[in-house]
Amino acid sequence: MIVLCQLGDIADGRSKGVLPNDRGRDRVLLVRQGSRIYGYINNCPHYDRAPLGWKRDEFLSGDGSHIMCAAHGALFRITDGACALGPCLGQSLTPVALRVVDGAVIIDAEPVK
Ligand code: FES
Repeated sequence: MIVLCQLGDIADGRSKGVLPNDRGRDRVLLVRQGSRIYGYINNCPHYDRAPLGWKRDEFLSGDGSHIMCAAHGALFRITDGACALGPCLGQSLTPVALRVVDGAVIIDAEPVK
């Protein structure tokens, strides 16, 4: 079990990167919507190794409605990670199974990517 952060560390409607690799790149992005939290591997399906964020903890479009890839602007639905607009239509972000226990955001094992 790995505690990624506390739910309260992410403002409602905002995002956060967690699980940095040895080069400091966050491997997982989280998005909070009220009491719900969504997590995805921080790789764009357009170019698999491309990180999504445009700066630290910033993974959302300007209006906060979608996850956005900084490289070519693809938009992904927050609730299921499906590409809604951009060069990777028909593809999706890789979801990470999360739980919130006593306010802590938890995964059961290291993500494979
Ligand atoms: S690398 Fe994400 S849209 Fe191209």
